[in-house]
Amino acid sequence: MADLTANLAGIISPNPFWLASAPPTNTYGQVARAFDHGWGGAVWKTIGQPIVNVYSRYGGVDIGTQKLMGLNNIELITDRPIEDNIREMALIKKRYPKHSLIASLMVESTREAWHEIAKRTQGETGCDGFELNFGCPHGMSERGMGAAVGQVPEYCQQIVHWVKEVSTIPVIVKLTPNVSDITYPARAGKAGGGDALSLINTINSIVSVDLDLMAPRPNVNGKGSHGGYCGPAVKPIALNMVSAIATDKETAGMPISGIGGISTWRDAAEFISLGCDNVQVCTAVMHYGFRIIEDLCDGLSNWMDEKGYRTLDDFKGKAAATVTKWEDLNLNYFTRASIDHQKCIGCELCYIACEDGAHQALRLVEKNGKRLVEVKEDMCVGCNLCSLVCPVPDCITMKHIESNAPDITWKQFSAGKGALAERPTHYQPVDDGE
Ligand SMILES: Cc1cc2nc3c(=O)[nH]c(=O)nc-3n(C[C@H](O)[C@H](O)[C@H](O)COP(=O)(O)O)c2cc1C
Repeated sequence: MADLTANLAGIISPNPFWLASAPPTNTYGQVARAFDHGWGGAVWKTIGQPIVNVYSRYGGVDIGTQKLMGLNNIELITDRPIEDNIREMALIKKRYPKHSLIASLMVESTREAWHEIAKRTQGETGCDGFELNFGCPHGMSERGMGAAVGQVPEYCQQIVHWVKEVSTIPVIVKLTPNVSDITYPARAGKAGGGDALSLINTINSIVSVDLDLMAPRPNVNGKGSHGGYCGPAVKPIALNMVSAIATDKETAGMPISGIGGISTWRDAAEFISLGCDNVQVCTAVMHYGFRIIEDLCDGLSNWMDEKGYRTLDDFKGKAAATVTKWEDLNLNYFTRASIDHQKCIGCELCYIACEDGAHQALRLVEKNGKRLVEVKEDMCVGCNLCSLVCPVPDCITMKHIESNAPDITWKQFSAGKGALAERPTHYQPVDDGE
């Protein structure tokens, strides 16, 4: 059976699934319950100078019948006294020595404040590592903390350096996605001496507007504020950022804890395949509770057995090796849609999508008294849209079209090195403006 043991910068946990710093890691009772269910580690809810929270705090985005595709919050760091958090973390570490316990920290940007919280936390809790929260996009950011630090690489580097001056345990730098290029704060985290990176924290957002109150949700006495967005909807953004730092020349090889929209074992496997050493989960636990860990571990373990991967390292980063720039993709590689009429239910969603929204490469035909959708082979550009809107699994698949044309990238073509093979017409020219 696959070995799920995970190692993030020397922090070993029985499996790669950690709870992200958030409400599920706010108390001893919650973290103990999570570890009893099988979670491999937990990043405690960020501690610092306790704050006062507002009522209410969360807003959701539903898509169709799927609740909480996205979750938005205007909650800040812990509102519990530091003493209580530290005492409970110490109790957790004592009772669960084999699970990873990480202290998430955020204080004002002075050397003294960071030294004090780091020394105190590592001395009194026995935690396995620090995570520096440079990500909170609301509330703390306005106080010069959180994303206000994560968005300025120099501050980020400076604070990591301060913590490293006193830390005897690994330091994980948690990055904000609210930047135009994630590689800059990632490089700063490394330059400051950080042992690992974790990403993403939440994305700046207003999730919806209550049209009766004319106020954003969540609503606090008739007013709203921008907050942090997370949940399944943010996974693609997180994967892209993970891949950017896993493939960046300066940060490649740095240990990564992947966060953002992870709800299933497949999500986790995708993050690991792009270079993560472990993953963290928040929204899925807030939605479904701690017991999802059973499916996460069983699913990942069964899939690894099927694929012949014995350890996480056997597939870590494998997909990162295939991430390339657009200009390095092969321009002479062709695919075309193929419709399995045995499976087709005749909904014609593919036809409408292609005719109105893509490359007009499908036609409706009558055959044996039945209306069918057919592919116009000379028009199809293999864009995938028909297969994406088709509700029937494997009814529309994209088939590779064999060609004798040699591979050629845009970089080579624009430098005059090679020729493009003949391509589908993909539009019909109109005569005389008709
Ligand atoms: C209500 C709420 C509170 C959060 N509080 C913190 C926090 O105190 N510290 C922190 O680093 N991240 C905090 N986060 C961000 C999460 O740790 C995580 O980075 C983010 O939710 C993305 O993961 P997900 O898509 O699995 O939810 C919070 C998220 C939510 C939803």
